[in-house]
Amino acid sequence: MNSIKNDLLLRTLRKEKTERIPVWFMRQAGRYLPDYIKLREKYSFFERVRNPQLAAEITVMPVKQVGVDAAILFSDILVVAQALGVDVEILEGKGPILKNPIRTKEQIDKLNPQHTEEILHYALPTTRAVKDALSNEVPLIGFCGSPWTLLCYMVEGNGSKDFAKAKQFCYQHPELAATLLEKITQSSIRYLNMQLAAGVDTVQIFDSWGGLLSPSDYRKFSLPYLNEIVKAIQPKVPVILFAKGAWFALPELQKTGASALGLDWNIEPSVGRKMAGNAVVQGNLDPITLLGPQKNVEMETIAMLKNFGTGNYIANLGHGVLPQTPLENAKLFVDTVKNFKH
Ligand code: CP3
Repeated sequence: MNSIKNDLLLRTLRKEKTERIPVWFMRQAGRYLPDYIKLREKYSFFERVRNPQLAAEITVMPVKQVGVDAAILFSDILVVAQALGVDVEILEGKGPILKNPIRTKEQIDKLNPQHTEEILHYALPTTRAVKDALSNEVPLIGFCGSPWTLLCYMVEGNGSKDFAKAKQFCYQHPELAATLLEKITQSSIRYLNMQLAAGVDTVQIFDSWGGLLSPSDYRKFSLPYLNEIVKAIQPKVPVILFAKGAWFALPELQKTGASALGLDWNIEPSVGRKMAGNAVVQGNLDPITLLGPQKNVEMETIAMLKNFGTGNYIANLGHGVLPQTPLENAKLFVDTVKNFKH
């Protein structure tokens, strides 16, 4: 029984036939939305995440203003680092800063996944407020980061192009890395279970830095932990795995049993589909396309839809929508998908 009015996304995740392709985009709640930018002047980032009214208002914005077929909870992947007891700040224009990066056994021993529910207590009321605000119009996507991507931030201490310190730590201390990854995994499963208890309809796991690893290191530092999360969550709701830059791992990601796999724009849709086996695929327009010109937005979107072919497909970007994206171009992308017929 499903009482959601527009359930195109959920039916696609169940591999059912649908009258048209569902569309949403990664990082759709925030950043580029003028009404969100106004809220940013009044409240800090974590105030926006923890306040049920604000989180609900922001989550619903792209549904009302852009017409996407799903909402994604307004939060951040780094709340799981906070759940483990790590101090995280998000600085305007600078991104995430962790004052005490995790580098030693003593620090890792102190991290305790059992405090997740207490530290992230706001996840229940905020997610419930979001569900209420959506009033069953579209499904709600919950999310977390992959353990590997979380480790990148927790060890490096900030964003980076190559996360050299985080990778060096893993190569020098693989057993400490394994302990840290396992703790992040446990906390992530607890956080996702809180989101599920509050009613999210599906879950996406962002392995944003998966592509920094070689295939064999991916098997060591990312895949086993994604597998653990999928095993815990997929029996309850469909899981979407998005591993940016890690197209080489698609066949193994499919074996986790996740319902859908996200693709970035570095892979040909038809090739990605083959590598993803019987999983639903999601993606993969280059987010920079949405900066224009508008003619290109339409042309490239239609080319992408044709290239993906019919069925078992969710239209999305190949990574998060960029802050400088004009609202009308985001809408044009959504409308082009909605009007497309094979
Ligand atoms: O649709 C949404 O945006 C929903 C909420 C959401 C945020 N972060 C809010 C946010 C989601 C799904 C994320 C995921 C996230 N956060 C990822 C994975 C997706 C990806 O882009 O690869 C990663 C790697 C992060 C870590 C993070 N958080 C970074 C690197 C930054 C700074 C740069 C930026 O603007 O993304 C953040 C801050 C952050 N998280 C903002 C938002 C809206 C921007 C800060 C602000 O608006 O005040």
